[in-house]
Amino acid sequence: MTMGVKDAIAARHSVRAFTKDKLTESEIRELLEAARNAPSSLNSQPWRFLVVTDAADLAWFGTSEATRKQAWLAGAAAIVVCCADIAHYVKDSQSAAFFYRDNDIITGETMDGIDAYVAREAVAAEQAKFGACAMNTALAEAFIMLRAVEMGLGTCWVGMFDEANIKARFGLAEGLRIVNILAVGRPDEPEVHPRKRKSLDEIVLG
Ligand SMILES: Cc1cc2nc3c(=O)[nH]c(=O)nc-3n(C[C@H](O)[C@H](O)[C@H](O)COP(=O)(O)O)c2cc1C
Repeated sequence: MTMGVKDAIAARHSVRAFTKDKLTESEIRELLEAARNAPSSLNSQPWRFLVVTDAADLAWFGTSEATRKQAWLAGAAAIVVCCADIAHYVKDSQSAAFFYRDNDIITGETMDGIDAYVAREAVAAEQAKFGACAMNTALAEAFIMLRAVEMGLGTCWVGMFDEANIKARFGLAEGLRIVNILAVGRPDEPEVHPRKRKSLDEIVLG
């Protein structure tokens, strides 16, 4: 029976211990398909993914050079290096904006002055563009993480990493920024600790 979204959300947790099994090509493709279908600002789809499965590379990810020595990463079946393509973000969001306007998908006053709006985005600071791209990429990754649960896989978002070293090792292009890396594999956990969460009272305003 297929798992529902509610169950996938409840079951998802950060997995840091994996079996030695590799992922199949079709499993990797399924995960990337989930990301591909995520929403993005002006349909810019600025996410780019490098899937690393080579054993020597995976071992390297567990070193201080890559991730402040998060040694458990060496046991992942794959590491997805999740990047934001700042170089293409503006162009892609501009063309989507004009497509929405010209095809009456978004209509009325919202699209008045859209040329000026997208022109402003083009000259925004690099860090602001990175923020927008990273937000979109994170959303796509949430889709990967939930789809992984449905497929019996585990993931862990890793935010502590050395961007320059990872970019150099894999020859990532100048216009790409790394948002984070995502460890993926088949869970092999002795026990799953309960997840600590704030109550609704703490997070709902008003
Ligand atoms: C932005 C971000 C950065 C994170 N960085 C790391 C990391 O570098 N190493 C790690 O083991 N887990 C990392 N995590 C996983 C969190 O520790 C984990 O999501 C959190 O403790 C909640 O636990 P859960 O995912 O099991 O629900 C990160 C998660 C996020 C969203």
